[in-house]
Amino acid sequence: MASEPVNVSEFEALAKKALPKMYFDFYAGGAEDEYTLKDNEEAYQRITIRPRVLVDVSRIDTSTSILGYPISSPIMVAPSALHQLANPEGELATARASAASNTIMILSFSSSYNVEEVAASCDAVRFFQLYVYRGRHIAANLVERAERSGYKAIVLTVDCPRLGRREADIRNRMIVPKLKNVEGFVSNDVDAGGGSNLEAYANSTFDPTLSWKDVAWLKSITSLPILLKGILTHEDALKAVEVGAAGVIVSNHGARQLDYSPATITVVEEVVRAVKGKIPVIVDGGVRRGTDVFKALALGAQAVLVGRPIIYGLAAKGEQGVKQVIQMLKDEFELTMALAGCTSLKDITRSHVRTDRDRFQ
Ligand code: FNR
Repeated sequence: MASEPVNVSEFEALAKKALPKMYFDFYAGGAEDEYTLKDNEEAYQRITIRPRVLVDVSRIDTSTSILGYPISSPIMVAPSALHQLANPEGELATARASAASNTIMILSFSSSYNVEEVAASCDAVRFFQLYVYRGRHIAANLVERAERSGYKAIVLTVDCPRLGRREADIRNRMIVPKLKNVEGFVSNDVDAGGGSNLEAYANSTFDPTLSWKDVAWLKSITSLPILLKGILTHEDALKAVEVGAAGVIVSNHGARQLDYSPATITVVEEVVRAVKGKIPVIVDGGVRRGTDVFKALALGAQAVLVGRPIIYGLAAKGEQGVKQVIQMLKDEFELTMALAGCTSLKDITRSHVRTDRDRFQ
């Protein structure tokens, strides 16, 4: 491989070279058989694009907005834990790269730098991802701090009542470093019984009683809009609308939670139909090409989140690497629009893609 990556996937090899095995495996791994991990990417490859020709594509506009906040393209930064294991600048670098790319970063609850430090790193629209630990005071504290620090939305992750079984972390006896946001609340010094300290930590902290009624509680403690991340069915999408979510993120947590959950792109339409345009639908998992972004939009998503490629960019080249990853995806997406005959996002329609289901009908 040339030393300069020419696509997003090539950053993975660079990251693998740059990182200790324990950390690379933590970032790259999925749950159990990693069936869903593979399928998240492969399901995109089963969708083809139906281009329209002889359209004047001399000017292409990739811009859009999410919850009213303008972004340069429908590509946003997914919340992912512990960026300092990839680079000393951690989320500060990711935040600066996201801001420079005119997109929104969702800061993970389990970040290496805390909400205030990331907020101070640069001026930009950011969302905050929330986990709910046992003892609701911790979530309440973080929501209050995020709101005070200028985050514009809370992204409640709903697919994590317990941690999925990530076998690479168990094998490597993954050790979770101190989590900055919860300093003073909980200790990461838990007995892993010879396995993954991350798993033991998560299972002793995550609140497995979290349920739909808690969205009302969350709404009662913040005026920020609440997005639910981890929706995979039309039943839950409908409930999300009912409880007043401001948006849903179709996600299987990058295949790190329930193995054999569906590849996210295969359930986007189901969710889009259920919410009937009342709230935005965002999707993540396996987005590695501009064509993937195009396919997600054609199936009704408003935007995509990108997880691992961002971390790989950070590990390989710091802030510059994250910028490059976002730019590559955006450039590919813009080219896809041109070659498919779409000059703005509203031109991208269901008729621009062909899925397995279309073929079998
Ligand atoms: C994640 N993800 C995640 N999600 C979340 O809500 N809170 C978190 O702290 C994390 N942490 C995390 C760490 C790592 C290393 C990964 C890879 C993922 C899931 C993330 O937000 C997103 O759903 C997936 O990463 C999307 O899939 P891709 O783009 O990685 O395939």
